[in-house]
Amino acid sequence: MALNLVMLGPPGAGKGTQAVRVEQERGIPQISTGDILREAVQAGTDLGRQAQAVMERGELVSDALMVAIVRERLARDDTRDGFILDGFPRTVAQAVALDEILAGRDPLIVVELGVPDQALVERLSRRRVCRECGATYGAGAGAVPAACTGCGAPLVARKDDREEVVQERLRVYREQTEPLVAFYQDRSTFRRVDGNQPADAVRIAIGGAIDAAQAAVHVQPTPAG
Ligand code: AP5
Repeated sequence: MALNLVMLGPPGAGKGTQAVRVEQERGIPQISTGDILREAVQAGTDLGRQAQAVMERGELVSDALMVAIVRERLARDDTRDGFILDGFPRTVAQAVALDEILAGRDPLIVVELGVPDQALVERLSRRRVCRECGATYGAGAGAVPAACTGCGAPLVARKDDREEVVQERLRVYREQTEPLVAFYQDRSTFRRVDGNQPADAVRIAIGGAIDAAQAAVHVQPTPAG
């Protein structure tokens, strides 16, 4: 069956870090709505102009725009064997739209990464990203390198990782995105993973959660009688 995965969790929970690993292990594309928007900002497109100020305030881009972007992305051929959504859905309206977009496809598996607020704030103050390729640094115990080990470009802090913006992003998460836990948690394919452990341990836990959720899909109720 296709692996149609949603990574749910607050800012800094490690959704992007882990989505890249699942992409490498399972050979399905990571779809990060944050990355799509940041690329649009960098390229100066209409979408980027609409999104930039909203993102820098830590607020959410409109549901209509985000649903249109994801609908188009999920229609592409490379999602046939599955995909990893990172940063979408973020509101109940987006989740309802996603169910409609995926009608007739294999069930959605939702993995929620839980991390306490204090650890999130520390992670985001430490995070650096490559200005060119977007690679993320900061998960290890050692110092963050001065330049990207992949492409050599300088590493920078994200504008929305300033502390006051992080507080707003956490507030918006609690208000608009956390209700998605209630939206999904009664599905047999919903799993919660402790994201407050070393990144390799989180990766292993996510692998186990995905396998268990896929097995739950295969369990058919036995016919009565
Ligand atoms: P987006 O880019 O999606 O930001 P986010 O959800 O706030 O998530 P982050 O990217 O900050 O964190 P992450 O969970 O991916 O953590 P990461 O792996 O980087 O969205 C940005 C903005 O775009 C939004 O605010 C909004 O304006 C807009 N937007 C996007 N999607 C939208 C949507 N659907 N609707 C409306 N608006 C939308 O890790 C964080 C740090 O921790 C890194 O330094 C990493 O190295 C480190 N780390 C990771 N794992 C560990 C670990 N286990 N231990 C220690 N450190 C770790």
